[in-house]
Amino acid sequence: MIYLEVDLLKQSLAPLELKRPIGLLDSGVGGLTVVKELIQQLSNEQLIYFGDTVHFPYGPRDLREVKGFAIEIAKFLLEQGVKAIIVACNTASAAGLEELKREIAVPIIGVIEPVAQAAVNATKNGRVGIIGTVGTINSNAHKNAIKSCMPEIEVFGQPCPLFVNLVEEGKVDEKETWEVAEYYLKPLKEAEVDVLILGCTHFPHLRPVISKVMGDKVTLLDPAEETVKAVARILGKEGRLNYGKKADYDRYWVTAQPEKFQQVGQKLLNIPLQVKMIKFWPEQRTEKCLEAVD
Ligand code: DGL
Repeated sequence: MIYLEVDLLKQSLAPLELKRPIGLLDSGVGGLTVVKELIQQLSNEQLIYFGDTVHFPYGPRDLREVKGFAIEIAKFLLEQGVKAIIVACNTASAAGLEELKREIAVPIIGVIEPVAQAAVNATKNGRVGIIGTVGTINSNAHKNAIKSCMPEIEVFGQPCPLFVNLVEEGKVDEKETWEVAEYYLKPLKEAEVDVLILGCTHFPHLRPVISKVMGDKVTLLDPAEETVKAVARILGKEGRLNYGKKADYDRYWVTAQPEKFQQVGQKLLNIPLQVKMIKFWPEQRTEKCLEAVD
């Protein structure tokens, strides 16, 4: 039985409370893959999204730093009245959710446990591959989650940092993308995995390339799909889903480059987005003055 990444409150919420939004956090546009699934699977829910674009990318950072970012953002989302928070970033989820759960009094759901459970269910030969950022793969978070369900499964991790840059630059089908994919995925092909977790928010955009390189016998798992299924299950079971009309429009906050976020986000979701920029971090609020020197 898998341990779900949620700190369930005992009582279900009163009708008005059910209309409270669901919060999401990520380092940038990546977590919009989870938003896309939420819009499809839980369209009555209002969403508040926080993209920490000033700190993008989270992947190469120390996980303790990433965890600190996630806690501060979660506090902000809580102030906005959210009824649950999805850590829609693999690296931030890999940094660990225990502290977040201790400090934040709403259910916290990450993207690792649901996809790990799906991988356990999907593998036939007991060999599972994971691709992600350096932080995610080095954390062994997926491996630990899979092993805690079924210790005999063999897990093979492969960091693929360049995939993030290729997707950010919109290079999802270029010659270099295919070359990088062949290079990164070779060890996983040799390991004969039959399930591959796309353990980074950006990687589903490379699905056609990854699928072709890995071959059609390998099942690719997208954490966004699995996470939203888990959110529906967890909040549904606790009587926290909004079956009435959506309370209000979705809100998007970013810490830098709101125009870029809006442009990319609208393209990904195919809907207009209202995006607000917030100078959230202490270093952003500091005014700097460079004195003239002779
Ligand atoms: N959102 C990150 C993840 O899923 C990828 C981008 C980043 O490095 O910040 O790991």
